[in-house]
Amino acid sequence: MRKLIVGNWKMNGLGAALGEAQAVAAGLGEAPARVGLCPPATLVERMARGLAGSAVRVGGQDCRAEASGAYTGDVSAEMLADAGAVLVILGHSERRAGFGETDALVSAKVEAALRAGLEPIVCVGETLAEREAGRALSVVTGQVRGSLPAALAGRDFSVAYEPVWAIGTGLTPTTAQIEEVHAAVRAELRAVLGESGERAPILYGGSVKPSNAAEILSAAEVGGALVGGASLKAADFLGIIAGA
Ligand code: PGA
Repeated sequence: MRKLIVGNWKMNGLGAALGEAQAVAAGLGEAPARVGLCPPATLVERMARGLAGSAVRVGGQDCRAEASGAYTGDVSAEMLADAGAVLVILGHSERRAGFGETDALVSAKVEAALRAGLEPIVCVGETLAEREAGRALSVVTGQVRGSLPAALAGRDFSVAYEPVWAIGTGLTPTTAQIEEVHAAVRAELRAVLGESGERAPILYGGSVKPSNAAEILSAAEVGGALVGGASLKAADFLGIIAGA
C-alpha cells in the first residue's frame, strides 16, 4: 500500500501560506504516496477549494465530539466536512497535554469524525518520562485501546505514533525504537479491531524532515508520516514525500 504523508500546520498559516499548498500539489507529479495537509480551521475551506481536483486531501487538526450547540470557539466534524475537509487529526499530544483530552474524549471525537464522513488520524505517544520509566509500550497501547472506538471496524483511518519528546525537538527515536512501538500498536489494533486493525496505516510523527524521511518510512510497519514543522514549506514537504 502507498504510504500516507500528512502535514500538520498547527497554528501556523495566514492566507498567503496557501501558495505553499498549491506548490505541494503542483510538485507531486506521480507521487509515490497519498498526501494530506491539515491547515488551521480558518484555512480549511480556502485550501480545499484551491486544491480541488489535485491529489492533496485537506483535513482539520481537531474537532468537537458534538455536531453543533453552545460550544463557543469549537468546530465540529460536520463543519470541517462542510468546509471541504476529508481528514481530521485527533488526540494530538498538544491537545492531550494542553487541553486535558483523555482517551475517552478522543474516542468520542473519532466517532464524530466517522459520523461526518471524515477519515480520522488518531495520535498516540509517550512522554520522555514515560519512556525513561520503561513504560512507552504500555502507555501507547493503552492509548490505542482507549482512543479507538469499535465503530472504526470497516472504516478508513490511521494511527500516528508520535513520541512527545520527538515533536518539534529535532530528536527522533532509533529505527529499532520506532519498529518496536509500531509492532506493539499493530498487535493492539488487531486485538481491538480484528481485520480492520490489520490494514490501517500506522504513521510515525516527530521531527520528520527530508533528510530522515526515507529511513523512517522504510522501517517495518511504518505506513506513513505525520509532519509538523517540515510541512510548512512545500520544498521540505515534497522532499519528505519523495522519501516514501
Ligand atoms: P514536528 O511535529 O514534525 O514539528 O516534530 C509533528 C507533529 O506534531 O505532528
